[in-house]
Amino acid sequence: MYRPGRVASATRSLNPFVVGIFVVAGVVILGVTIGLLIHFLAFAQKPYLYQSNLHITNVEYTSQLDSPTSQEYRTLSRTIENLMNETFRASSLARQFRRAYVVRIRQGNQGVIATLLLKFQFTGRTTGASMNTRIAEILRQLQNNSGTMTINVSSENVQPIPAEAAQDILIRECGSSPELMTLSFERIIAGTQARAGDWPWQASLQLNNAHHCGAILISNAWLLTAAHCFRSVRDPRRWSVTFGYLLSNPERRVNVRRIIIHPNYIAETHENDIALVELNGGVTFTKNIHRICLPQANQNIPVGASVYVTGWGSLQPGGTGVNVLRQGAVQIISNDNCNAPQSYNGLVTSGMICAGTPGGGTDACQGDSGGPLAMADSRQIWSVWGIVSWGYECGLPDRPGVYTYVPYYRDWITQQTGI
Ligand code: ARG
Repeated sequence: MYRPGRVASATRSLNPFVVGIFVVAGVVILGVTIGLLIHFLAFAQKPYLYQSNLHITNVEYTSQLDSPTSQEYRTLSRTIENLMNETFRASSLARQFRRAYVVRIRQGNQGVIATLLLKFQFTGRTTGASMNTRIAEILRQLQNNSGTMTINVSSENVQPIPAEAAQDILIRECGSSPELMTLSFERIIAGTQARAGDWPWQASLQLNNAHHCGAILISNAWLLTAAHCFRSVRDPRRWSVTFGYLLSNPERRVNVRRIIIHPNYIAETHENDIALVELNGGVTFTKNIHRICLPQANQNIPVGASVYVTGWGSLQPGGTGVNVLRQGAVQIISNDNCNAPQSYNGLVTSGMICAGTPGGGTDACQGDSGGPLAMADSRQIWSVWGIVSWGYECGLPDRPGVYTYVPYYRDWITQQTGI
């Protein structure tokens, strides 16, 4: 049907009032842009990292310090970090100082050498080079004034380090969480879906390239998982492991060289539900793929401790798995409570540990088996305390998840892998 055309008749003459508004707006936009530019170039605070080695001569090196999860290592790191915090907060760099973190402790020719990362935040007007000398100057004061520790600081000892290089140091150490990689203070574990890099030690153990179980990266060549995952197939050639938080789009896939099932695994009672998987060629650590720490054999997780279970398992018994890795916060339950008549009534043995939430709800489920029950220490270093093993259905009150208790098998892990 025909429609008569309506030609818009634009006014050709310019209204001086409108022109005025445009000019003013233009000037304002230009001013704001220049202002923001100056602000970001000169006044905005940016993070800067420095690395320093502290030679502590009066602390005796012991083999306990080889393990970042040992009480000795934790206490010493904390003492050094506290000393750094006090020192910098009382210095001329108090406003710029953010955090001190001990990445590594090793044996020195006398005493120990602690590698330290220092985070500062300052504006582009402060030049990096002058900061170097200021930091070194403050550290040098420790030489004669560091409480119980005798510290040697050499002057060439403080070096600026790019964020990527600091990250490379951190991913080689076990249990480094995403918040550590940026030396920020806090981690926000939001919701139930994980994001890339949140649980870098979580792997998917796959049978004929399909997800079958979770697995836990404990070195560049070894994973920890549950023995019951291999109930039907034990031939390593049919298994592979993927890394990355998405099953559909993994960051790496690696073949399996060897499977070591605990010789005393008993399917009926779930006892000794633990296995080791050796990768064919190992995996290169990245920001999103690196190992978790192992607790020591003599360590115990306190009842009530807050822990996380992660996996691609189903959301209800009999359901299907998910593509995006999920996480759940649960609490450690004592074996006595877990063995109460209304709970598992004696089925939980000393190589197992229970975790759940008071009314039920959050729990592991089918497909999560072999995955980690992990806890962060006060310095945000994560260790694996449990391996998803069994439970009656999922998330029911008085029916928490039952996990293989890792410290109980710590010596077996060392015997088999040297880790
Ligand atoms: N056996 C299950 C699996 O193969 C894991 C069961 C864990 N159940 C639980 N309620 N926490 O994936």
